[in-house]
Amino acid sequence: MDTFFISTPIFYVNAKPHLGHAYTTIVADTVSRFHRLMGRETYFLTGTDEHGDKIAQAAELNAQTPQQYVDAISALFKTMGPQLGAEPNRFIRTTDKDHVATVQAVLQKVFDSGDIYFGEYGGHYCYGCERFYTEKELEDGKCPQHGKKPEYIAEKNYFFKMAKYQDRLAEHIRSNPDFIRPDSYRNEVLSLLESGALEDLCISRPKSRLEWGIELPFDSNYVCYVWFDALINYITALKWPGGAKFKKFWPGANHLIAKDILKPHAIFWPTMLMAAGIEPYQHLNVHGYWLVKDTKMSKSLGNVVEPMDMIGKYGVNAFRYFLMREMSFGQDSSFSEEALVGRLNADLANDLGNLFSRTLSMTHKYFGGKIPCPDELEEIEDAEIKKRGQNAMAAYQEHFEHFRFARGLESLWELVRGLNKYIDTTKPWTLFKEGDTKRLSTVIYIMLENMRKIAVHLWPVMPGSAVEMLRQLGIEFEPEKVNLQKELDAWGLLDSGGLVAETSNLFPRVEPLAVEAPSEEKAPKAKQDKAPKKKPAVDAQGNESGVVVAEFEDFQKIDLRVGTVVSVEKHPDAVRLLLVRVDMGEAEPRQVVAGLAEFFEPDDLMGRQVVIVANLQPRKLRKQISEGMILAVKTDQGMELLTASGTVKNGSKVS
Ligand code: ME8
Ligand code: MG
Repeated sequence: MDTFFISTPIFYVNAKPHLGHAYTTIVADTVSRFHRLMGRETYFLTGTDEHGDKIAQAAELNAQTPQQYVDAISALFKTMGPQLGAEPNRFIRTTDKDHVATVQAVLQKVFDSGDIYFGEYGGHYCYGCERFYTEKELEDGKCPQHGKKPEYIAEKNYFFKMAKYQDRLAEHIRSNPDFIRPDSYRNEVLSLLESGALEDLCISRPKSRLEWGIELPFDSNYVCYVWFDALINYITALKWPGGAKFKKFWPGANHLIAKDILKPHAIFWPTMLMAAGIEPYQHLNVHGYWLVKDTKMSKSLGNVVEPMDMIGKYGVNAFRYFLMREMSFGQDSSFSEEALVGRLNADLANDLGNLFSRTLSMTHKYFGGKIPCPDELEEIEDAEIKKRGQNAMAAYQEHFEHFRFARGLESLWELVRGLNKYIDTTKPWTLFKEGDTKRLSTVIYIMLENMRKIAVHLWPVMPGSAVEMLRQLGIEFEPEKVNLQKELDAWGLLDSGGLVAETSNLFPRVEPLAVEAPSEEKAPKAKQDKAPKKKPAVDAQGNESGVVVAEFEDFQKIDLRVGTVVSVEKHPDAVRLLLVRVDMGEAEPRQVVAGLAEFFEPDDLMGRQVVIVANLQPRKLRKQISEGMILAVKTDQGMELLTASGTVKNGSKVS
């Protein structure tokens, strides 16, 4: 059986999780779910990196023992997974017993084969980077990452003969073009390998300087260098050397990292594997950095994005969608809440949400909520939209296989928008009016079946929403029973006669954010976002200023009645207006020109009962006669129509 393994970096526990950690975790969860649906057995690994100077120092600052300290922070990373909707198979910690044993086994094996030697070393050590720098690598004598002067340390240490594997690694990368992807990172690594001699890697720290680490099995005066320890987590989890999981999953091993840790993953790790007699992993997948206003997130700048704040405000599904859609995998991307809200409203509320709500409501209006039985797909537009669906999903799958998530989602959205257009051209409301049930059944079925396929494809990205979309289509989702590869040619899996939900409000619109004044405090603002606009001031009499008092007789003059919308068209020459014909129980329906086009598609109004001001003086609006006014309420999301709480006879008077 085809298998797939995906890992995130194991995160340092010297700070709590932020947007960057959340993103990598979400990508890993998404690809793991995607491969599951492609019919592969998958293993998804994440965890925390808990040894080394950095951690020991952070613990000391917090007046805790290293173990107390790492337990507390590691727990934050562990709970982040479920909060992001991520379901790893294992959350590994480098302090786990099996990991310690595996690191020692690798060290012993490489030592026995002669690739680890003892030697004297003097170098410029940066505590921030946990590594030695050569004279050449320093900028003005300072660490290029941290801008601090490193400490010169001379001591005896153990070294891994990394240089010995330089040519073999370069050759491996050249003959496996997608070993490191995207290409820009592969080229970066190749030019690094080709530009100069690789040095051997110092893999020990004397206990006199650092005790918080894994003891070398062949010298108890030393602990293992944190990177040599950490990278091995990927095979600990699979129970190297003898474990069945190792045999099963290692050949399909995919690592996922950001560009910050390219060198340890692209150079240290494969050469370590070679020295230990293990085949290199299959792919290293490298993403860019999330920036905020084009600068790096950093605690000192106070611009660190807290993933949980965003999830609290917009929900985990919208958050996941945004991250996957917004970042072009491999490149840096700027995070902004405005952009998130923009996509939520445009892609989710408008395109996808609308597709579901209008189709479900039409299924109810025309078929009492039952999925109709389609006729032959005769018309050109039917075959066309079906083909379009197949192409979109094939493109989606192909892009996702290659970590091009933004492009995959864009392909799927072309279909979502195509389906919304397909409704507009096939005009189910006209087919209904004309009594063309055969064609109406086909059109609605095509919509529903495509919606089912879209929902299934979205499960990797938005698991919760996909399950809900499928529930609305009357399907209980079982990932084990779905195979995306088979979905490409499958048609008609949605059972006719099944009942769909009456409404769908998957993605309510969110009020766009006001442009933020830079000095504004963060916490109160978050509250303001949700609070309704301030009411006008109230005067001494308790009346809102500017409100005119109506005498009772004035009110009595107004004739409010309920009617049913029987046809809706766009006004031929005013984009904001709709021509709505309302059956008021009179001989002829009345025509009302309503300023609702921004808020409702014609079909959203069809068949709905509305309250009309029935005795307004008729007047012309842009050359169209209007014989009344539809009552509606403006909301943060748009507009809601006034109606009776149950169906009433057309023409009933409101009193
Ligand atoms: O490097 N944008 O851990 P770490 C996107 N323990 N991703 C980001 C990001 C950002 N601004 N900031 C962080 C370590 N990340 C080692 C790894 S693996 C054997 C050992 C993510 O806590 C991204 O995945 O510094 C990056 O590679 C990782 O966090 C670094 O996490
Ligand atoms: Mg880091």
